Amino acid sequence: ARIVVLVSGSGTNLQALLDAIAEQGPEVYGAEVVAVGADRGAIKGLERAESAQLPTFVCRVKDHDSRPDWDAALTEATAAYEPDLVVSAGFMKILGKEFLARFGGRIVNTHPALLPSFPGAHGVRDALAYGAKVTGCTVHFVDDGVDTGPIIAQGVVEVRDEDEESALHERIKEVERSLLVEVVGQLARNGYRIEGRKVRIS
Ligand code: GRF
Repeated sequence: ARIVVLVSGSGTNLQALLDAIAEQGPEVYGAEVVAVGADRGAIKGLERAESAQLPTFVCRVKDHDSRPDWDAALTEATAAYEPDLVVSAGFMKILGKEFLARFGGRIVNTHPALLPSFPGAHGVRDALAYGAKVTGCTVHFVDDGVDTGPIIAQGVVEVRDEDEESALHERIKEVERSLLVEVVGQLARNGYRIEGRKVRIS
């Protein structure tokens, strides 16, 4: 399978995918990353892609007249690489209508909380503030809501009394990276069906 990964930040989830593919080989893993896109420049995630000699593209909202124009540009830039799967790995923009129409059912996102609890941009902070004793991460398909699509897999992380957002987020990200690598490989190798809210991996 051909994968386009979208990033906005440090790109450690991207790196985990790249490492697994390099280690196992794309045939065994079942997928290869064919390009990395971002909504901003000068981020570690893009550097990682360049180090892996992958093509990259940057599509900034502010370089477009409207959100729909940005959506169209991101869709076109992504489509150019003919992905079977799009992986949103720390991509901090809500994908637009056109993107969803083109790639719907093939976009995987990773979120640092146990959905449906704590959706949105501050999943780790919100779980801490709520006083949750366990949190974690969710790998799910993207639909037109914010972190509402069908869940593929989740990983649990215990909250410690002394936890601050950054320490908790780091522990979540350790679980998140291996979960994402496992899930993407399974989807790519085995194929899958989305039946309502259930994801069936064959
Ligand atoms: C991940 O925890 C992701 O779920 C969240 O941002 C983090 C991205 O980390 N939305 P990285 O850029 O892959 O290191």
